[in-house]
Amino acid sequence: MSKTQLLVRPQQTPLVGTVYVPSDKSISHRAVLLAAIADGTSHIRNWLPAGDTIATLEAIKGLGISIEIQKESAQSWELTIHGRGLHGLQPPSGAIDCRNAGTCMRLLAGILAGQRFPTILDGSEQLRKRPMKRIIAPLEQMAALIGSEDGRAPLRIQPNSLEGISYEMNVASAQVKSAVLLAGLYAHGETRVFQPGPARDHTERMLTAMGAQVTTDENWITLSEGAQLSPLDLTVPGDISSAAFPIIAAAMVPHSQITVANVGCNPTRTGILDMLSSMGAHLQFANQHVTGGEPTSDVQVAFEELHSTQVWGDTVVRGIDEFPIWAIAATQAAGNSTVSDAAELRVKEVDRISVLAGELRKLGVNISEHPDGFTIAGPTRLQAAEVDSYGDHRLGMALAVAGLAADGPVLIQDAGCIHDSFPGFVDTMQALGANMAWVS
Ligand code: S3P
Repeated sequence: MSKTQLLVRPQQTPLVGTVYVPSDKSISHRAVLLAAIADGTSHIRNWLPAGDTIATLEAIKGLGISIEIQKESAQSWELTIHGRGLHGLQPPSGAIDCRNAGTCMRLLAGILAGQRFPTILDGSEQLRKRPMKRIIAPLEQMAALIGSEDGRAPLRIQPNSLEGISYEMNVASAQVKSAVLLAGLYAHGETRVFQPGPARDHTERMLTAMGAQVTTDENWITLSEGAQLSPLDLTVPGDISSAAFPIIAAAMVPHSQITVANVGCNPTRTGILDMLSSMGAHLQFANQHVTGGEPTSDVQVAFEELHSTQVWGDTVVRGIDEFPIWAIAATQAAGNSTVSDAAELRVKEVDRISVLAGELRKLGVNISEHPDGFTIAGPTRLQAAEVDSYGDHRLGMALAVAGLAADGPVLIQDAGCIHDSFPGFVDTMQALGANMAWVS
Protein backbone atom coordinates (compact mmCIF):
# COMPACT_ATOMS: atom_id res chain seq x y z
CA MET A 1 0.00 0.00 0.00
CA SER A 2 2.99 2.29 0.59
CA LYS A 3 3.33 3.34 -3.06
CA THR A 4 -0.34 4.34 -3.42
CA GLN A 5 -1.06 7.58 -5.29
CA LEU A 6 -3.58 10.21 -4.26
CA LEU A 7 -5.13 12.48 -6.90
CA VAL A 8 -6.52 15.88 -5.89
CA ARG A 9 -8.43 18.18 -8.24
CA PRO A 10 -9.12 21.91 -7.88
CA GLN A 11 -11.85 22.50 -5.31
CA GLN A 12 -14.69 24.47 -6.85
CA THR A 13 -17.31 24.02 -4.13
CA PRO A 14 -17.12 24.90 -0.44
CA LEU A 15 -16.22 22.27 2.16
CA VAL A 16 -19.17 21.77 4.49
CA GLY A 17 -20.25 19.40 7.23
CA THR A 18 -19.22 17.85 10.52
CA VAL A 19 -16.55 15.16 10.76
CA TYR A 20 -14.67 13.24 13.42
CA VAL A 21 -10.95 12.65 13.03
CA PRO A 22 -9.09 9.59 14.35
CA SER A 23 -7.97 9.46 17.95
CA ASP A 24 -4.86 11.09 19.28
CA LYS A 25 -1.72 9.24 18.23
CA SER A 26 0.46 10.37 21.14
CA ILE A 27 -2.15 9.36 23.71
CA SER A 28 -2.84 6.04 21.94
CA HIS A 29 0.87 5.06 22.07
CA ARG A 30 1.09 5.97 25.73
CA ALA A 31 -2.15 4.19 26.68
CA VAL A 32 -0.84 0.84 25.40
CA LEU A 33 2.65 1.28 26.86
CA LEU A 34 1.46 2.30 30.31
CA ALA A 35 -1.47 -0.16 30.48
CA ALA A 36 1.03 -2.97 29.83
CA ILE A 37 2.99 -2.15 32.99
CA ALA A 38 -0.04 -1.34 35.15
CA ASP A 39 -1.24 -3.73 37.85
CA GLY A 40 -4.42 -5.11 36.30
CA THR A 41 -6.76 -4.76 33.37
CA SER A 42 -7.15 -1.46 31.47
CA HIS A 43 -9.98 -0.46 29.14
CA ILE A 44 -9.15 1.95 26.32
CA ARG A 45 -11.95 3.25 24.12
CA ASN A 46 -11.51 5.12 20.84
CA TRP A 47 -7.93 3.90 20.42
CA LEU A 48 -6.18 4.83 17.15
CA PRO A 49 -5.52 1.83 14.85
CA ALA A 50 -2.94 3.53 12.59
CA GLY A 51 0.39 2.27 11.28
CA ASP A 52 2.45 3.91 14.04
CA THR A 53 0.26 2.91 16.97
CA ILE A 54 -0.22 -0.65 15.73
CA ALA A 55 3.59 -0.92 15.87
CA THR A 56 3.38 -0.12 19.59
CA LEU A 57 0.50 -2.56 20.10
CA GLU A 58 2.40 -5.38 18.37
CA ALA A 59 5.57 -4.56 20.31
CA ILE A 60 3.71 -4.81 23.60
CA LYS A 61 2.07 -8.09 22.58
CA GLY A 62 5.54 -9.39 21.71
CA LEU A 63 6.55 -8.55 25.29
CA GLY A 64 3.98 -11.04 26.60
CA ILE A 65 1.01 -8.75 27.24
CA SER A 66 -2.42 -10.02 26.29
CA ILE A 67 -4.54 -7.45 24.45
CA GLU A 68 -8.10 -8.04 23.29
CA ILE A 69 -9.72 -5.90 20.61
CA GLN A 70 -13.31 -5.56 21.78
CA LYS A 71 -14.76 -3.37 19.05
CA GLU A 72 -13.17 -2.66 15.76
CA SER A 73 -13.94 0.03 13.18
CA ALA A 74 -11.68 1.59 10.54
CA GLN A 75 -11.00 4.65 12.72
CA SER A 76 -11.06 3.29 16.26
CA TRP A 77 -10.63 0.18 18.38
CA GLU A 78 -11.72 -0.57 21.91
CA LEU A 79 -8.96 -2.42 23.78
CA THR A 80 -8.74 -4.50 26.92
CA ILE A 81 -5.13 -4.73 28.06
CA HIS A 82 -4.09 -7.18 30.75
CA GLY A 83 -1.27 -5.31 32.48
CA ARG A 84 1.27 -7.38 34.41
CA GLY A 85 2.87 -4.68 36.56
CA LEU A 86 6.22 -2.94 36.22
CA HIS A 87 8.13 -6.25 36.13
CA GLY A 88 5.66 -8.43 34.26
CA LEU A 89 6.93 -8.00 30.68
CA GLN A 90 8.44 -11.14 29.10
CA PRO A 91 11.50 -11.37 26.80
CA PRO A 92 10.40 -11.05 23.14
CA SER A 93 11.30 -13.75 20.62
CA GLY A 94 13.35 -11.39 18.44
CA ALA A 95 14.06 -7.73 17.65
CA ILE A 96 11.08 -5.44 18.26
CA ASP A 97 9.92 -3.71 15.04
CA CYS A 98 8.86 -0.11 15.69
CA ARG A 99 8.20 0.38 11.94
CA ASN A 100 8.12 4.18 11.24
CA ALA A 101 7.16 5.16 14.79
CA GLY A 102 9.67 7.34 16.63
CA THR A 103 7.35 7.59 19.62
CA CYS A 104 7.20 3.79 19.89
CA MET A 105 10.98 3.44 19.82
CA ARG A 106 11.87 6.31 22.13
CA LEU A 107 9.24 5.65 24.80
CA LEU A 108 9.70 1.89 24.73
CA ALA A 109 13.46 2.37 25.17
CA GLY A 110 12.73 4.06 28.50
CA ILE A 111 10.63 1.11 29.69
CA LEU A 112 12.96 -1.56 28.34
CA ALA A 113 16.05 0.03 29.95
CA GLY A 114 14.53 -1.00 33.29
CA GLN A 115 13.76 -4.65 32.42
CA ARG A 116 15.69 -7.71 33.62
CA PHE A 117 16.18 -9.09 30.09
CA PRO A 118 17.91 -7.75 26.97
CA THR A 119 16.00 -6.38 23.98
CA ILE A 120 16.67 -4.98 20.52
CA LEU A 121 14.59 -2.10 19.15
CA ASP A 122 14.59 -1.73 15.38
CA GLY A 123 12.39 -0.13 12.72
CA SER A 124 12.04 0.95 9.10
CA GLU A 125 14.85 2.48 7.04
CA GLN A 126 13.20 5.85 7.77
CA LEU A 127 13.30 5.29 11.54
CA ARG A 128 16.88 3.97 11.40
CA LYS A 129 17.93 7.41 10.13
CA ARG A 130 16.42 9.34 13.06
CA PRO A 131 18.51 10.54 16.03
CA MET A 132 18.39 8.32 19.11
CA LYS A 133 21.34 9.87 21.00
CA ARG A 134 18.83 12.26 22.53
CA ILE A 135 17.34 9.36 24.53
CA ILE A 136 20.48 7.24 24.82
CA ALA A 137 22.41 10.05 26.59
CA PRO A 138 19.99 10.61 29.50
CA LEU A 139 19.18 6.90 29.81
CA GLU A 140 22.92 6.15 30.05
CA GLN A 141 23.18 8.76 32.79
CA MET A 142 20.56 6.67 34.60
CA ALA A 143 22.96 3.67 34.16
CA ALA A 144 21.07 2.12 31.25
CA LEU A 145 23.17 0.01 28.90
CA ILE A 146 22.29 0.83 25.28
CA GLY A 147 24.27 -0.02 22.16
CA SER A 148 23.43 1.70 18.88
CA GLU A 149 24.68 2.30 15.34
CA ASP A 150 26.41 5.57 16.11
CA GLY A 151 23.36 6.98 17.90
CA ARG A 152 20.77 5.39 15.61
CA ALA A 153 18.65 2.23 15.62
CA PRO A 154 18.89 -0.68 16.02
CA LEU A 155 19.20 -0.12 19.78
CA ARG A 156 20.56 -3.02 21.87
CA ILE A 157 19.43 -2.71 25.47
CA GLN A 158 21.03 -4.76 28.26
CA PRO A 159 19.57 -5.06 31.76
CA ASN A 160 20.96 -2.91 34.56
CA SER A 161 19.56 -1.26 37.68
CA LEU A 162 18.71 2.38 37.07
CA GLU A 163 19.33 5.52 39.11
CA GLY A 164 17.15 8.64 39.15
CA ILE A 165 18.72 11.77 37.63
CA SER A 166 18.08 15.46 37.08
CA TYR A 167 18.26 15.94 33.34
CA GLU A 168 18.15 19.23 31.42
CA MET A 169 16.91 18.69 27.87
CA ASN A 170 18.34 21.11 25.33
CA VAL A 171 15.37 20.60 23.00
CA ALA A 172 11.76 20.62 24.17
CA SER A 173 11.03 16.99 23.24
CA ALA A 174 8.08 15.07 24.67
CA GLN A 175 9.62 11.82 23.51
CA VAL A 176 12.87 12.43 25.40
CA LYS A 177 11.00 13.65 28.48
CA SER A 178 8.78 10.57 28.36
CA ALA A 179 11.66 8.12 27.87
CA VAL A 180 13.38 9.51 30.98
CA LEU A 181 10.19 9.50 33.07
CA LEU A 182 9.30 5.95 32.02
CA ALA A 183 12.82 4.75 32.90
CA GLY A 184 12.33 6.67 36.16
CA LEU A 185 9.54 4.21 37.07
CA TYR A 186 12.34 1.64 37.42
CA ALA A 187 14.95 3.89 39.08
CA HIS A 188 16.19 4.30 42.63
CA GLY A 189 15.49 7.85 43.75
CA GLU A 190 13.47 10.55 42.09
CA THR A 191 13.75 11.44 38.41
CA ARG A 192 13.68 15.06 37.26
CA VAL A 193 13.52 16.48 33.74
CA PHE A 194 13.87 20.12 32.70
CA GLN A 195 12.10 21.14 29.49
CA PRO A 196 13.05 24.38 27.74
CA GLY A 197 9.51 24.72 26.33
CA PRO A 198 6.00 23.27 26.81
CA ALA A 199 6.42 19.83 25.18
CA ARG A 200 3.19 17.81 25.14
CA ASP A 201 2.38 16.54 28.63
CA HIS A 202 0.30 13.42 27.94
CA THR A 203 2.78 11.16 29.76
CA GLU A 204 2.62 13.26 32.92
CA ARG A 205 -1.20 13.39 32.80
CA MET A 206 -1.53 9.64 32.25
CA LEU A 207 1.02 8.69 34.91
CA THR A 208 -0.78 10.94 37.39
CA ALA A 209 -4.17 9.39 36.49
CA MET A 210 -2.62 5.96 37.18
CA GLY A 211 -1.45 6.96 40.65
CA ALA A 212 2.19 7.94 40.09
CA GLN A 213 3.41 11.07 41.82
CA VAL A 214 4.40 13.53 39.10
CA THR A 215 4.77 17.24 39.77
CA THR A 216 5.55 20.11 37.43
CA ASP A 217 7.21 23.21 38.85
CA GLU A 218 8.12 25.88 36.31
CA ASN A 219 9.83 23.78 33.64
CA TRP A 220 10.97 20.94 35.95
CA ILE A 221 8.98 17.70 36.00
CA THR A 222 9.61 15.35 38.94
CA LEU A 223 8.60 11.70 39.26
CA SER A 224 8.82 10.28 42.79
CA GLU A 225 10.40 6.89 43.39
CA GLY A 226 8.37 3.72 43.79
CA ALA A 227 5.25 4.30 41.69
CA GLN A 228 2.83 1.41 41.19
CA LEU A 229 0.49 2.02 38.28
CA SER A 230 -3.25 1.40 38.57
CA PRO A 231 -5.03 0.32 35.38
CA LEU A 232 -6.45 2.88 32.97
CA ASP A 233 -10.08 3.46 32.04
CA LEU A 234 -9.70 5.88 29.20
CA THR A 235 -11.46 7.29 26.14
CA VAL A 236 -8.96 8.84 23.74
CA PRO A 237 -9.97 12.22 22.23
CA GLY A 238 -9.58 13.10 18.53
CA ASP A 239 -6.10 14.10 17.38
CA ILE A 240 -5.65 17.84 16.86
CA SER A 241 -2.71 17.03 14.58
CA SER A 242 -5.14 15.19 12.27
CA ALA A 243 -7.91 17.78 12.71
CA ALA A 244 -5.48 20.42 11.42
CA PHE A 245 -5.85 19.09 7.84
CA PRO A 246 -9.62 19.57 7.40
CA ILE A 247 -9.48 22.75 9.51
CA ILE A 248 -6.89 24.39 7.26
CA ALA A 249 -8.60 23.08 4.12
CA ALA A 250 -11.82 24.82 5.23
CA ALA A 251 -9.98 28.02 6.14
CA MET A 252 -8.58 28.14 2.56
CA VAL A 253 -11.47 27.04 0.33
CA PRO A 254 -13.91 29.94 -0.26
CA HIS A 255 -17.27 29.82 1.54
CA SER A 256 -16.39 26.66 3.50
CA GLN A 257 -17.79 26.09 6.96
CA ILE A 258 -17.03 22.88 8.85
CA THR A 259 -16.94 21.39 12.34
CA VAL A 260 -14.40 18.85 13.53
CA ALA A 261 -15.99 17.20 16.55
CA ASN A 262 -14.30 15.91 19.70
CA VAL A 263 -10.80 17.29 19.15
CA GLY A 264 -8.23 17.02 21.95
CA CYS A 265 -7.33 20.63 22.83
CA ASN A 266 -4.60 20.11 25.43
CA PRO A 267 -2.84 23.51 25.62
CA THR A 268 0.52 21.86 24.85
CA ARG A 269 -0.94 20.89 21.45
CA THR A 270 -2.97 23.89 20.31
CA GLY A 271 -0.18 25.94 18.71
CA ILE A 272 -1.76 25.45 15.27
CA LEU A 273 -5.03 27.04 16.41
CA ASP A 274 -3.12 30.09 17.70
CA MET A 275 -1.15 30.33 14.45
CA LEU A 276 -4.35 30.19 12.40
CA SER A 277 -6.15 32.77 14.57
CA SER A 278 -3.20 35.12 14.17
CA MET A 279 -3.64 34.74 10.38
CA GLY A 280 -7.26 35.90 10.64
CA ALA A 281 -8.94 32.47 10.55
CA HIS A 282 -12.37 32.32 12.12
CA LEU A 283 -12.33 29.55 14.79
CA GLN A 284 -15.04 28.77 17.32
CA PHE A 285 -15.22 26.18 20.06
CA ALA A 286 -18.30 24.29 21.22
CA ASN A 287 -19.11 21.39 23.52
CA GLN A 288 -15.98 21.87 25.62
CA HIS A 289 -15.43 18.99 28.03
CA VAL A 290 -12.71 16.69 29.39
CA THR A 291 -12.06 13.27 27.80
CA GLY A 292 -9.59 10.92 29.47
CA GLY A 293 -8.08 13.77 31.48
CA GLU A 294 -7.60 15.87 28.33
CA PRO A 295 -9.50 19.09 27.39
CA THR A 296 -11.63 18.33 24.33
CA SER A 297 -13.79 20.51 22.07
CA ASP A 298 -15.65 20.70 18.77
CA VAL A 299 -13.71 23.09 16.54
CA GLN A 300 -15.69 25.13 14.00
CA VAL A 301 -13.94 26.94 11.19
CA ALA A 302 -15.15 29.05 8.30
CA PHE A 303 -13.32 30.39 5.25
CA GLU A 304 -11.62 33.76 5.73
CA GLU A 305 -9.05 35.74 3.72
CA LEU A 306 -5.82 34.87 5.54
CA HIS A 307 -2.88 37.17 6.17
CA SER A 308 0.73 36.36 7.05
CA THR A 309 2.09 35.66 10.52
CA GLN A 310 5.39 35.06 12.31
CA VAL A 311 5.77 31.93 14.46
CA TRP A 312 8.55 31.25 16.97
CA GLY A 313 9.31 30.05 20.53
CA ASP A 314 6.73 28.14 22.56
CA THR A 315 4.14 28.22 19.76
CA VAL A 316 6.54 26.14 17.66
CA VAL A 317 6.80 23.55 20.46
CA ARG A 318 3.00 23.52 20.86
CA GLY A 319 2.48 22.96 17.14
CA ILE A 320 5.63 21.07 16.16
CA ASP A 321 3.84 18.49 13.97
CA GLU A 322 1.68 21.03 12.14
CA PHE A 323 4.23 22.92 10.02
CA PRO A 324 3.67 20.95 6.80
CA ILE A 325 -0.03 21.92 6.85
CA TRP A 326 0.60 25.40 8.30
CA ALA A 327 2.87 25.99 5.29
CA ILE A 328 -0.09 25.32 2.99
CA ALA A 329 -2.17 27.94 4.84
CA ALA A 330 0.80 30.33 4.49
CA THR A 331 0.78 29.89 0.68
CA GLN A 332 -2.75 31.36 0.67
CA ALA A 333 -2.03 34.19 3.16
CA ALA A 334 -1.18 37.72 2.05
CA GLY A 335 2.40 38.63 2.95
CA ASN A 336 5.52 36.85 4.18
CA SER A 337 4.89 34.14 6.79
CA THR A 338 7.93 32.90 8.71
CA VAL A 339 8.58 30.14 11.21
CA SER A 340 11.83 30.23 13.21
CA ASP A 341 13.16 28.28 16.26
CA ALA A 342 12.05 25.14 14.44
CA ALA A 343 15.31 23.29 13.67
CA GLU A 344 13.61 20.18 15.15
CA LEU A 345 11.64 19.95 11.89
CA ARG A 346 14.83 18.68 10.26
CA VAL A 347 14.78 15.46 12.33
CA LYS A 348 11.15 14.43 11.91
CA GLU A 349 9.99 11.60 9.62
CA VAL A 350 11.96 13.48 6.93
CA ASP A 351 13.75 16.84 7.00
CA ARG A 352 10.47 18.76 7.05
CA ILE A 353 12.15 22.01 6.00
CA SER A 354 14.07 20.93 2.91
CA VAL A 355 11.67 18.23 1.68
CA LEU A 356 8.66 20.53 2.18
CA ALA A 357 10.42 23.37 0.35
CA GLY A 358 11.30 21.08 -2.57
CA GLU A 359 7.74 19.79 -2.97
CA LEU A 360 6.11 23.22 -2.52
CA ARG A 361 8.34 24.73 -5.21
CA LYS A 362 6.91 22.16 -7.64
CA LEU A 363 3.50 23.72 -6.86
CA GLY A 364 4.85 27.21 -7.61
CA VAL A 365 5.33 28.34 -4.01
CA ASN A 366 7.86 31.04 -3.19
CA ILE A 367 9.56 29.48 -0.14
CA SER A 368 12.99 30.15 1.31
CA GLU A 369 14.69 27.84 3.78
CA HIS A 370 16.47 28.92 6.96
CA PRO A 371 18.55 26.69 9.24
CA ASP A 372 15.72 26.78 11.82
CA GLY A 373 12.62 27.36 9.69
CA PHE A 374 11.31 28.85 6.44
CA THR A 375 9.54 31.85 4.90
CA ILE A 376 6.65 31.65 2.44
CA ALA A 377 5.55 34.65 0.36
CA GLY A 378 1.81 34.54 -0.32
CA PRO A 379 -0.74 34.46 -1.63
CA THR A 380 0.05 32.09 -4.51
CA ARG A 381 -2.24 30.42 -7.03
CA LEU A 382 -0.80 26.90 -6.74
CA GLN A 383 0.08 25.01 -9.93
CA ALA A 384 -0.83 21.50 -11.03
CA ALA A 385 2.10 19.15 -10.34
CA GLU A 386 3.22 15.68 -9.43
CA VAL A 387 4.65 15.68 -5.89
CA ASP A 388 5.94 13.10 -3.41
CA SER A 389 5.28 12.49 0.28
CA TYR A 390 8.75 10.97 0.75
CA GLY A 391 7.04 8.50 3.10
CA ASP A 392 6.01 11.28 5.51
CA HIS A 393 2.31 11.01 6.42
CA ARG A 394 1.93 14.67 7.40
CA LEU A 395 3.66 15.90 4.26
CA GLY A 396 1.40 13.65 2.17
CA MET A 397 -1.77 15.09 3.74
CA ALA A 398 -0.48 18.67 3.54
CA LEU A 399 0.18 18.26 -0.19
CA ALA A 400 -3.34 16.84 -0.61
CA VAL A 401 -4.85 19.94 1.01
CA ALA A 402 -2.62 22.12 -1.20
CA GLY A 403 -4.08 20.36 -4.23
CA LEU A 404 -7.53 21.74 -3.40
CA ALA A 405 -6.18 25.27 -4.03
CA ALA A 406 -4.29 24.40 -7.24
CA ASP A 407 -5.17 25.36 -10.81
CA GLY A 408 -5.11 21.74 -12.01
CA PRO A 409 -4.65 18.19 -10.76
CA VAL A 410 -2.06 17.43 -8.07
CA LEU A 411 -0.87 13.82 -7.92
CA ILE A 412 0.79 12.74 -4.68
CA GLN A 413 3.14 9.79 -4.95
CA ASP A 414 3.78 7.39 -2.08
CA ALA A 415 0.66 8.54 -0.25
CA GLY A 416 -0.09 5.23 1.52
CA CYS A 417 1.99 6.50 4.47
CA ILE A 418 -0.99 8.71 5.37
CA HIS A 419 -2.24 5.58 7.16
CA ASP A 420 0.61 6.00 9.71
CA SER A 421 -1.51 8.55 11.59
CA PHE A 422 -4.84 9.16 9.78
CA PRO A 423 -6.67 6.07 8.56
CA GLY A 424 -9.70 7.33 6.65
CA PHE A 425 -8.14 10.68 5.68
CA VAL A 426 -9.53 10.59 2.13
CA ASP A 427 -12.98 9.41 3.27
CA THR A 428 -13.10 12.20 5.85
CA MET A 429 -12.11 14.85 3.32
CA GLN A 430 -14.58 13.44 0.77
CA ALA A 431 -17.34 13.62 3.41
CA LEU A 432 -16.71 17.38 3.49
CA GLY A 433 -16.97 17.49 -0.31
CA ALA A 434 -13.22 17.55 -1.07
CA ASN A 435 -12.22 16.61 -4.59
CA MET A 436 -9.66 13.87 -3.91
CA ALA A 437 -9.44 10.12 -4.48
CA TRP A 438 -6.98 7.26 -4.26
CA VAL A 439 -5.63 6.10 -7.62
CA SER A 440 -5.36 2.35 -7.93
C1 S3P B 1 5.51 13.09 20.11
C2 S3P B 1 6.38 14.10 20.35
C3 S3P B 1 6.91 14.99 19.30
C4 S3P B 1 6.09 14.87 18.01
C5 S3P B 1 5.78 13.46 17.65
C6 S3P B 1 4.99 12.78 18.76
C7 S3P B 1 5.05 12.27 21.25
O1 S3P B 1 8.23 14.61 19.00
O2 S3P B 1 6.78 15.50 16.95
O3 S3P B 1 5.02 13.39 16.47
O4 S3P B 1 4.05 11.55 21.13
O5 S3P B 1 5.69 12.35 22.31
P1 S3P B 1 9.48 15.19 19.85
O6 S3P B 1 9.43 14.63 21.20
O7 S3P B 1 10.67 14.69 19.08
O8 S3P B 1 9.34 16.68 19.81
